[in-house]
Formats: sequence, C-alpha cells, structure tokens
Amino acid sequence: MDIIRVKDYDELSEKACKILTNEIKKSGSSVFGLATGSTPEGLYQQLIEEYKKGNISFADVTSFNLDEYVGLAADDPNSYRYYMDEKLFSHIDLPDEQAFLPNGIADDPDKECHDYEALIKDAGYIDLQVLGLGLNGHIGFNEPGTPVDRRTHVVDLDESTREANARFFNSLDDVPKKALTMGIGSIMESKKIVLLVSGEKKADAVKRLVNGEVSEDFPASILQKHNNVILIADEEALSKL
Ligand code: GLP
Repeated sequence: MDIIRVKDYDELSEKACKILTNEIKKSGSSVFGLATGSTPEGLYQQLIEEYKKGNISFADVTSFNLDEYVGLAADDPNSYRYYMDEKLFSHIDLPDEQAFLPNGIADDPDKECHDYEALIKDAGYIDLQVLGLGLNGHIGFNEPGTPVDRRTHVVDLDESTREANARFFNSLDDVPKKALTMGIGSIMESKKIVLLVSGEKKADAVKRLVNGEVSEDFPASILQKHNNVILIADEEALSKL
C-alpha cells in the first residue's frame, strides 16, 4: 500500500483530484468506482472545477457507486443517488446512462445486486475505485464479519454505522437498517484503489488498516492484499501510525 501523507483535507482533495484527472486524461473512457460520505466531497468539488476549466470531460467515463440505502428513492435527500446528483453528477457532462448506483427501492433487492454485478462486468470492471473508511473499518457498507469474496449484496447496517451516519438524518430512527453494497470481492477486482482518510477520529482505524492483521473483523484490512492501493491521509488521520 502506498501512503501519501498530506497536511490537511484540502491537500487530500487536491491529490485525489489529480489522480482521477490523470486517469481520465490517460484513457478518456475510464470506469470509476465512487464513494459517498463526507470525505470525497472535496474531491468532487475539485473535479467540478477541473471540468469547468475545460481540463477534463466525463463524456466517455462510466461510474459505479459503492452503495445505496434500502428504501430510499432517488429524490430522497438522504439517498446516495441524491448525494451524487447534488455533489457531482449535475455539475459535469457524465451522461446519466453511464452513472450507476444500486437502486434502493428495487422490488427484488437480491436481483438488483446480481444485475449490478453484471453491469460492472459488462463495463470491463473498475479501473479506479475511490474509497472512504468507516470508523469500524467498513468499506462501502461491508461491515465487520463480511466474507472477503462477497459480491454486491444486501447488508444489515451495524448500529455504530447507523449512529455515525445519523448526522445526515433528522433522527437515528430515520436511518435505514439495510443497504445494498458492492462486496469486498467486487471492490478487490478494481485495478486501482484510492482510499481517502481525513481527521483525528479516523486515526485508530488507519492504524489498524495499515498495521493490523488482515481480518474479516476489520474489512478494510483486506486492502493490504491488493497490489495497487494508494492511501491518501492527512496528518491527523496518520497521527497514531
Ligand atoms: C458511509 C459510506 C462509506 C463511507 C463511510 C465513511 O458509511 N457507506 O462508503 O466511506 O460512510 O464516511 P465519511 O467519509 O463521512 O467518514
């Protein structure tokens, strides 16, 4: 795992933006895996700026988001589809039909997961996957205990994850109990992974990610076994290494 140490969140977003921008410039038709949460927001802002300056186009890019809450429709402000539209998609030229997220209100969630995997395969798998890190080591919504070969599947969210994400909802009761997530097996097939971690509250998780044993109890630890992972972390997040 390559570690890029940055001063702060702004520098983290800049570095990540440079990596994605280079990827687009290199191939044009990249397949990106995208994440939600607070951490990639700065990256998305920077990508929008690069697009507005005319430095990059997303016209031939395809994107697959990691996850979506079960029960939330695209027009629900807490759905990840809504987040992506607001924070990135509506500001760039990525065609709607090339921007995929699992459908949180699919009639048959298991079939939706199966179909999502097929879409990723048809696109030739993910060239570059952006990841954030949950406090309990989750990636996407793969909670502790998830087998490392799982494909896209339906998960029961940990109480700790619901509590961590309750800040976006009116109350903890409003946070869905289930989600659809790309599996660890799907994530590990990405050709390159860029993991973004910022802030002191993630310092213990980063320490376990980098120095801990590889274990299903801490899903992100499996990334130690991927041959092309770049961890971009700020000084606070790296403070316990
Ligand atoms: C959510 C998402 C993850 C994300 C994590 C960390 O649970 N499903 O993909 O990485 O939160 O979020 P944040 O960046 O807000 O700390």
